[in-house]
Amino acid sequence: MSLNNLCKIIIFFIITISLSLHTCYSQPPSSNCNSIFLSYNHTNGFLIPPTNPANQSYRFESTVTIFNFGPDELKSWRIFVGFHNNQLLVSKTNAVLVDGSNLPAYVGNGTVLAGFPETDLKSAIETAGDLNQMGVEIKLVGTQFGVVPPDVPMPVTIYLADDGYNCPTPTKQGNNTMHSCCIKDANYRSNFTGEDPFADRQDGDLIIMYDVIKSYENNYWSQVSISNHNPLGRLDNWKLSWEWMREEFIFAMKGAYPLEVDVSDCFYGSQGQHYQDMDFSLALNCQRRPTIVDLPPTRANDTILGRIPFCCRNGTILPREMDPSKSTSVFQMNVFKMPPDLNRTEFFPPQNWKINGTLNPDYQCGTPFRVSPSKFPDSGGLPTESTAVASWQVVCNITQAKEESPKCCVSFSSFFNESAIPCNTCACGCNKSPSQTCSATEPALLVRPDSLLIPFENRTVETLGWADLKHRTVPNPLPCSDNCGVSINWHLLSDYRGGWTARITLFNWGEIAYADWFAAVQLDKAVPGLEGVYSLNGTTLPGSNNTIFFQGNPGSNYLSAETDGAKPWKDPRLPGKQQSVISFKTKTTPNIQVAKGDGFPTKVFFNGEECSLPSILPISSGDKLRAAATTSFLGLPLTLLALLLLFMQ
Ligand SMILES: *[C@@H]1O[C@H](CO)[C@@H](O)[C@H](O)[C@H]1NC(C)=O
Ligand SMILES: *[C@@H]1O[C@H](CO)[C@@H](O)[C@H](O)[C@H]1NC(C)=O
Ligand SMILES: *[C@@H]1O[C@H](CO)[C@@H](O)[C@H](O)[C@H]1NC(C)=O
Ligand SMILES: *[C@@H]1O[C@H](CO)[C@@H](O)[C@H](O)[C@H]1NC(C)=O
Ligand SMILES: *[C@@H]1O[C@H](CO)[C@@H](O)[C@H](O)[C@H]1NC(C)=O
Ligand SMILES: *[C@@H]1O[C@H](CO)[C@@H](O)[C@H](O)[C@H]1NC(C)=O
Ligand SMILES: *[C@@H]1O[C@H](CO)[C@@H](O)[C@H](O)[C@H]1NC(C)=O
Ligand SMILES: *[C@@H]1O[C@H](CO)[C@@H](O)[C@H](O)[C@H]1NC(C)=O
Ligand SMILES: *[C@@H]1O[C@H](CO)[C@@H](O)[C@H](O)[C@H]1NC(C)=O
Ligand SMILES: *[C@@H]1O[C@H](CO)[C@@H](O)[C@H](O)[C@H]1NC(C)=O
Ligand SMILES: *[C@@H]1O[C@H](CO)[C@@H](O)[C@H](O)[C@H]1NC(C)=O
Ligand SMILES: *[C@@H]1O[C@H](CO)[C@@H](O)[C@H](O)[C@H]1NC(C)=O
Repeated sequence: MSLNNLCKIIIFFIITISLSLHTCYSQPPSSNCNSIFLSYNHTNGFLIPPTNPANQSYRFESTVTIFNFGPDELKSWRIFVGFHNNQLLVSKTNAVLVDGSNLPAYVGNGTVLAGFPETDLKSAIETAGDLNQMGVEIKLVGTQFGVVPPDVPMPVTIYLADDGYNCPTPTKQGNNTMHSCCIKDANYRSNFTGEDPFADRQDGDLIIMYDVIKSYENNYWSQVSISNHNPLGRLDNWKLSWEWMREEFIFAMKGAYPLEVDVSDCFYGSQGQHYQDMDFSLALNCQRRPTIVDLPPTRANDTILGRIPFCCRNGTILPREMDPSKSTSVFQMNVFKMPPDLNRTEFFPPQNWKINGTLNPDYQCGTPFRVSPSKFPDSGGLPTESTAVASWQVVCNITQAKEESPKCCVSFSSFFNESAIPCNTCACGCNKSPSQTCSATEPALLVRPDSLLIPFENRTVETLGWADLKHRTVPNPLPCSDNCGVSINWHLLSDYRGGWTARITLFNWGEIAYADWFAAVQLDKAVPGLEGVYSLNGTTLPGSNNTIFFQGNPGSNYLSAETDGAKPWKDPRLPGKQQSVISFKTKTTPNIQVAKGDGFPTKVFFNGEECSLPSILPISSGDKLRAAATTSFLGLPLTLLALLLLFMQ
């Protein structure tokens, strides 16, 4: 902060509290704010290369300030800045982006900034008016498109994003400044009932806790717990990474391990100079952005690496509803700090958290915010609780990343149509090499339902034969495969008076088996009529009226990998397979039109990953439908029907 500015603010501040001084200055906007004062000041901007009249880029420099002129401390401040000129943020001071993006980051839809390293703003009362503890100035530098100086790319708005505050529309001053005074909402009741002055814990799809459990002058032990709060969330072989902001490094770990053991940055860096006597060959990782992986189950009882409850499951995190004991992963690590943080009470949790897995949803994590210290049951079995020294919470939510293609796909078939609708062409992506001998854009060719049991690459003869029989022309080149490791067939089995049945079949075309797999099927109208699922454990997803959750029964919870056929020289390979008949009653859903589309899922998930659905449904020709519904299915006991129709087994 420039000295000049600082002086002005101090003077204004004195005005506010003493109300007795008279100066020649005009009243500054902050002087009548008795709560949280925010301002955005554009300070500079100019054209930068390349010259591009259609979409010219310009540098912008601006300052965001926040001051706590209220009576109480402001914990974990967060400011929304409503950028709208395709801004790319290139540098910032004293803050991090809440969505965890690294710089340069696209912020053209607005962004939320949170404090770093100062996350909290003390009140004037607590600090005798020390502006350095009451406020923060954040300098932003970035690139914007389209606003030609001297016009100023001002954000549309700026407000405090913390719960419990109301911010009026900011006041514009000149053409380069806006400010707002955010007032505490008197009606806001925080859900937190303890006396601690910490921010509320938030909910989200995946919650990561960063608990400092032991603290020494120059190092501390933290415990990281990752817990799944979404009934369809899941991670396999999770990989967790973050960014150290204060030159910390990991000396030891229990319950997990860095993907790379790499201390070269320490040897040659400031850490090596500061810790001259340390044997860095014993340290684990000095990367600024380490990647951590879970240990395999065989290390669970390892006296050095294991013996942490909830560790060592090879990175599997399941929904709590499936198995609470597998819905959390925990590990501990010993972190060494660097000057000037060598103080038993100074901690800076790492920032920019990321977590991902194989064939899992994408998660986006927010910035860590300080919460009341976590309590743990005593590890020695005593009926007491131990309390963390300090705790932070990172909330990660599932996002629909558009650039990623799905990893599973769905095919449809039904009793009233002889052809099955296979998975979409390139449902899980196609390689873009020009030598490709198939068409990535032609829709998939209809096939006889049992052809879906054969690997795509061995199905061509059947597919062409079927097209010939049905007098359908085939494109040249033929459509490409779906390229999915997992596909799911939804087959409508019957539709009779009072009920209907379907069969779900899961195929694994990949090389790895899925332990503890799950699938979820969303049927917008049918689920209240669910009567039974026969060969899998299928239940209505708790808290939902439109989703059925399937998992293997105890003992058959594996979806095995593809295997060789009985006579490998002439039989195609066999997919891993699980299937079940599902029956529905229509008493509670009298208006359902099963064959017209209500009997087909609108969304399907496998292990939390949303699958690609065919864009068309099998069409029923009215006559056939009525025939099938009345003659073959009426009155047959359902279980017998289920046995009869498991022809794919
Ligand atoms: C905005 O920044 C400019 C340049 O630093 C400064 O001259 C001006 O006084 C600031 N305006 C406000 C309202 O703080
Ligand atoms: C920004 O918003 C537009 C319109 O809502 C959307 O199309 C675009 O994907 C958004 N960009 C990012 C990076 O979120
Ligand atoms: C914005 O203000 C600056 C300085 O006060 C001035 O030079 C510029 O012409 C103004 N721009 C517009 C579009 O009013
Ligand atoms: C407070 O808790 C209640 C019940 O636990 C919940 O319904 C409500 O959404 C919570 N409010 C906030 C702001 O988290
Ligand atoms: C995550 O989702 C929850 C609701 O499920 C929402 O309250 C929270 O703000 C979200 N957090 C982030 C970082 O998007
Ligand atoms: C670890 O020890 C527990 C309890 O002694 C035992 O049940 C478990 O099988 C052991 N695990 C391994 C991988 O040795
Ligand atoms: C753990 O995961 C690896 C792949 O990361 C796999 O090769 C290994 O078989 C898995 N081990 C167990 C016990 O699941
Ligand atoms: C089926 O799954 C539900 C939900 O996970 C579980 O509560 C139930 O015990 C399971 N039933 C069987 C027979 O495994
Ligand atoms: C450690 O930090 C506390 C609080 O910030 C401070 O009071 C104390 O003097 C510091 N100790 C050292 C040795 O710097
Ligand atoms: C998962 O995260 C790791 C480390 O952050 C990264 O290297 C890897 O590419 C990511 N994998 C996927 C599938 O996004
Ligand atoms: C499911 O619940 C939503 C809201 O809770 C409701 O709008 C919808 O009609 C329900 N659907 C069925 C099939 O009951
Ligand atoms: C199936 O296709 C694969 C890949 O094209 C081929 O290697 C294999 O021999 C085929 N199997 C049979 C039985 O035709």
